[in-house]
Amino acid sequence: MAVKVFLSEDEIPRQWYNLAADLPSPMQPPLGPDGKPISPDMLAPVFPMNLIEQEVSTERWIDIPEGVLELLYRWRPSPLHRAVHLEKALDTPARIYYKNESVSPPGSHKPNTAVAQAWYNKQFGIKRITTETGAGQWGSALAFACSLLGLECKVYMVRISFEQKPFRKLMMQTWGANCVASPSTETQAGRDILAKFPDTPGSLGIAISEAVEAAVTDQSGETRYSLGSVLNHVLLHQTIIGLEAKKQLKKAGVKKVDTVIGCCGGGSNFAGLSFPFVADKIAGEQIDIIPVEPTSCPTMTRAPFVYDHGDTAKMTPLLPMHSLGHDFIPPPIHAGGLRYHGMAPLISQAIVEGLLAPRAIHQLECYAAAVQFAQTEGIIIAPETSHAVAAVVQEAKKAKEEGKEKVILFNMSGHGLMDLTGYDAYFQGKLQDYSLPDVEMEKSLKSIDGLPKPQLVKTGKW
Ligand SMILES: Cc1ncc(COP(=O)(O)O)c(C=O)c1O
Repeated sequence: MAVKVFLSEDEIPRQWYNLAADLPSPMQPPLGPDGKPISPDMLAPVFPMNLIEQEVSTERWIDIPEGVLELLYRWRPSPLHRAVHLEKALDTPARIYYKNESVSPPGSHKPNTAVAQAWYNKQFGIKRITTETGAGQWGSALAFACSLLGLECKVYMVRISFEQKPFRKLMMQTWGANCVASPSTETQAGRDILAKFPDTPGSLGIAISEAVEAAVTDQSGETRYSLGSVLNHVLLHQTIIGLEAKKQLKKAGVKKVDTVIGCCGGGSNFAGLSFPFVADKIAGEQIDIIPVEPTSCPTMTRAPFVYDHGDTAKMTPLLPMHSLGHDFIPPPIHAGGLRYHGMAPLISQAIVEGLLAPRAIHQLECYAAAVQFAQTEGIIIAPETSHAVAAVVQEAKKAKEEGKEKVILFNMSGHGLMDLTGYDAYFQGKLQDYSLPDVEMEKSLKSIDGLPKPQLVKTGKW
């Protein structure tokens, strides 16, 4: 039995899939500070127009330019693995498949959009890109992409991760990027936060404020900002994962996938794998599609669907999404890439529609699953990815109880070789489970009081 399925370079998908074309209820627009829908022009100081066009597109299929494919060939198509050793250890009748996104040079799915975004920025004449990073995976992906294309790259890295993951910073430096801890003293947003909370561990919301400010205040007009998740065009670029997976499953003789699983921070790797399967579900197939988050940052499972800013300093437009409030500072768990107050609008709307079944899992269960995965399949996964694997273990055990030969597909979004301090803390018994208390959530949700409310459009079919 084949445990890996490959595609040749000429079998790579040549178009990205845009779920916005098929969602039963249309996406609600981002709003400006006056509560009115923002026009593409208003985003022009932040993003290049070619990416803004993708952001607002409702075309189902969008061609991947040849120049982007050439960049992707460095590591794509990524392999599809059958996790036979994990299946055996779990003694499950389920067949478990995973896309191995750790094969990219920076080690995660993030370069799929990093190279596309850097390419579009370069086409538009941009010379310098700013961004934020949580765990450092996104920062290193963008640093890598910018180095391939000869662009300057500036990364604001959430302070707690900057301290926990020094090697990520060195990777960014090796690819020629400049990385600083956020909040920094380089921006007004950073200085304001430091004045109020000098010991803050930082958050993605704060780091986004800094990176956006650095882009829009650059007088040369040659700097733009880039986001590694959440936005429609980012999720779009990631759909190459699910489109490849479909071709590979066909090669492996799989006729039907029962369960699709991914971890969810801002939503990009989960969307990348699952959206082509969400399309099948909309078309009538029965598939369980499960985005997984930490119980300490329960955006999808407990936070309301609201309009909120994507960042702490309220520099971004208001997005219709599940949000814990833009002031939310998540507890410093090791899955830094899952510590975000909001969720991608496309995923949020799909949750409202009932197309997705979100799940929150405690970190001790996630680390236990990560260790089991390492000791069976061999790969040491990122702490973020461990949330997907923990859900896979739950589903495989359920299949055993029910005696069902299910096909489970998940996204192995990245390796954890730069995240071993988290494993160390786990082995030393220093990690604890943490559920966000209701009072904390109510407190952070105060920041959205008075903001416009999205309509809860729900067709009620799922
Ligand atoms: C390996 C890995 N997986 C998952 C995530 C979560 O991000 P997203 O939800 O955008 O896929 C991150 C974010 O840093 C990551 O590094």
